[in-house]
Amino acid sequence: MANIKSLTGTQDLYDDGDMKNLSSKLFEVEKRIKDIFINYKFQEIRTPVLEDANLFIRSVGSSSDIVNKEIYSFNDRNDKALAMRPEGTASVIRSIIEKKLELSTHKLWYLGPMWRYERPQKGRYRQFNQAGIEILGIPEGFPEYEMISIICSIIQDFDLKNCVIKINHLGTKENKESFCQALVNFLEPFKKELNEKDQERLEKNPLRILDSKSSETQSILKNSPSIKDFIDESSIDLLNSLKNEFSDLCNIEIDHKLVRGLDYYSGFVFEAISSELGAQDSFLGGGRYDYLCSQLGGKEMPAIGMAIGLERFSEIVSLKNNQKKLVSFIIQTSNLEPKAYKIAHHLRSLNKDIVLDISLSEGSLKSKMRKANKNNADFAIILGEEELNNKSVVIKPLKDELKEQQAVSIDDLYSFYKAL
Ligand code: HAM
Repeated sequence: MANIKSLTGTQDLYDDGDMKNLSSKLFEVEKRIKDIFINYKFQEIRTPVLEDANLFIRSVGSSSDIVNKEIYSFNDRNDKALAMRPEGTASVIRSIIEKKLELSTHKLWYLGPMWRYERPQKGRYRQFNQAGIEILGIPEGFPEYEMISIICSIIQDFDLKNCVIKINHLGTKENKESFCQALVNFLEPFKKELNEKDQERLEKNPLRILDSKSSETQSILKNSPSIKDFIDESSIDLLNSLKNEFSDLCNIEIDHKLVRGLDYYSGFVFEAISSELGAQDSFLGGGRYDYLCSQLGGKEMPAIGMAIGLERFSEIVSLKNNQKKLVSFIIQTSNLEPKAYKIAHHLRSLNKDIVLDISLSEGSLKSKMRKANKNNADFAIILGEEELNNKSVVIKPLKDELKEQQAVSIDDLYSFYKAL
């Protein structure tokens, strides 16, 4: 029988402790990004990965690529149309409406897998992970600064080089619609010169043409109307102010062609891109979406948010291997295990900054020592029959050849471990 393989565009993430490996990096990135969110006083929200398919049709938009071509949807046994979430924002708003929490303010974070049926390539998966935040209930102003501040904190914390935060403003709903109409009027005469994908966008989602990768389309767009002529002075001022305030920390660029691929955006939008990523260069994106809550049947609630693509982010960070001290607890014979586990249990409670690895399999002292050295352990604690009879253990330094191994009492082992 043929082996069952993982699905196209999905991958197993396996931590081998080596920070050159994408999975190990991703797990570490998750921890550190989560800490940054918590330091900004965001609170966790965890929504189901399965939702009513209509949630995404009504939020992300029926003209978006995500809903049009990429959504993983199917009917359940009751013939209800479900979807694996392609993103987190719609679910967060659905949850807030369901709990009737639209009238208060919220700062929420989430982390988890998303699904989009895309053609897999470097940095583009069918199942990928996002870490996101949403600030709910506060109109344009302070939250925009908080968003850029948190992005700069993340970029600085990971010491990312070669990245740019692109920002733009789509104005009000009316501004966005007038601009969209002006763009369509401008492009109609060039319709035949556009490639098939851009012709389809012209019909269904004209703003996305601004993102086109085709050089012909981009050369036509050189003289196209610009969003900056359709939005208020105050929107331009906001972009300039954000750029001025944060440019000493991060590279910020105003890009009036940035539109974002999801329909719910209005107002301030942004994306962070890295030149180290290749074609799929955006590792983070977001913006304001003041109308989504009422569009989904809730009360009006201004909102802004962003999500980081963790696989792409992990691709561009360099991390050091775990800096914590490692101690290998080596048990010489299996009849000693119960006692050894009790000692190890106590040791772990004495010093949480140390990783204690207890050997779980049979084997010679030599092979266990080889493994401890391979794992780059700092010390080995060796427990044998003779030691246990004398209520002692041997501590062997593995990184300092000048230091001799020593037999110590169990109580002295505890003091030694605590002080490490
Ligand atoms: P998005 O731009 O669709 O926004 O996705 C955010 C990030 O997820 C992207 O910048 C990218 O790094 C990553 N990403 C998207 N698709 C894939 C894929 N197929 N494979 C790997 N990574 C991918 C959103 O999802 C919005 N919900 C963000 C937001 C939150 N806006 C307001 N609040």
